[in-house]
Amino acid sequence: MLDRTRRAALAGAHAIPVPRTMYAAAMDRFGEPAVLTGHALPVPTIDPGEVLIAVDTSGVGPWDIDVRLGRFAGRRPHFPIVPGVDGAGIVVAVGSRVRRLKVGDEVYSYSWGNPKGGFYAEYVAVPVNNVAPIPKWLDLQHAGAIATTGLTALQGIDDALRLRKGETIIIHGASGGVGTLAVQFAKLRGARVFATASGIEGVELVREMGADAVVDGKRVVDIDDRARAFAPEGVDAVLALAGGDALGQCLDALRPNGRVAHPNGIEPAPRKRRGIALTRYDAVAGVREFEHLNEAVQAAKLKVPIAERYSLAKAHKAHLRLEAGEVLGKIVLTVHGT
Ligand SMILES: NC(=O)c1ccc[n+]([C@@H]2O[C@H](COP(=O)([O-])OP(=O)(O)OC[C@H]3O[C@@H](n4cnc5c(N)ncnc54)[C@H](OP(=O)(O)O)[C@@H]3O)[C@@H](O)[C@H]2O)c1
Repeated sequence: MLDRTRRAALAGAHAIPVPRTMYAAAMDRFGEPAVLTGHALPVPTIDPGEVLIAVDTSGVGPWDIDVRLGRFAGRRPHFPIVPGVDGAGIVVAVGSRVRRLKVGDEVYSYSWGNPKGGFYAEYVAVPVNNVAPIPKWLDLQHAGAIATTGLTALQGIDDALRLRKGETIIIHGASGGVGTLAVQFAKLRGARVFATASGIEGVELVREMGADAVVDGKRVVDIDDRARAFAPEGVDAVLALAGGDALGQCLDALRPNGRVAHPNGIEPAPRKRRGIALTRYDAVAGVREFEHLNEAVQAAKLKVPIAERYSLAKAHKAHLRLEAGEVLGKIVLTVHGT
């Protein structure tokens, strides 16, 4: 993290000197984790509606693996590519049209497919509407861990499922980045939560997040029976953060006319079933969306489990760790760490 004295000095400053070049973990081709290497790159310039952030913490998520493998690439990818769709840091410059944020603000951001480069870097230029002040409850590192996962978890619970007090929900894949937060938001809304997690430690973690019942969804073979014991009339909703056979069992435990939601990206995605309302969604970043998230983070006194931290220079190791599975919460890159 940026040290506290430097942060105090930055607060209220009007301009902060920014170097011309920066360190970034970038790639010159798609491929295995080792393609992520240290690069000296120009600091991105900002347009009138953008802010420049000195990155403190960058999130690492499963979508970054897809980016690294070129799964989202256009016909003519422009290398070097700096991955990283979210993170937190300090505003060091604002575009001429920006009024809502100022130099020195501690912010977090989610920005998908940014043509100016991602968060695996010392600096990132982002459209101001994708940026928000960090929740008061969190520091930069923990805010940097939740920009994407927090929006995805909250929008799953509140917008896609419209979960209400007293309802029951299965959160499948609850020990990961989105799931650990979704459990807490579901409890905040007054629901009873049955969760599936990965591994013994994953089960323990999800219990700590507040789930009422948790099973190891990779080893327990009768998830549907366990869920029916939890909600004999069937559960009202399922939030799917992983796909496959175990998810099929979760869906079997739904009540008639139950609701299912999943963010795009889970593999394999569930098919439509008769008598079940299925919503697929993508996380949306915006001023209102971040305000909503900040309120929920504060109200839930959100716990943000950080599984492991890596320096930018070890971004490839972060990807190797993510690919190994059984990650407890979220992996982050600490940009000024060693
Ligand atoms: N479209 C969007 O806007 C958007 C935004 C955010 C996330 N997403 C997608 O949403 C999904 C979740 O994201 P995330 O960041 O939470 O990923 P994550 O951290 O990898 O979490 C998924 C979790 O599900 C677990 N899991 C897999 N199979 C399981 C099973 N049978 N039983 C219990 N747990 C199981 C995984 O464990 P292992 O690692 O041990 O397999 C992992 O802990 C990903 O597919 C991601 O791409 C989409």
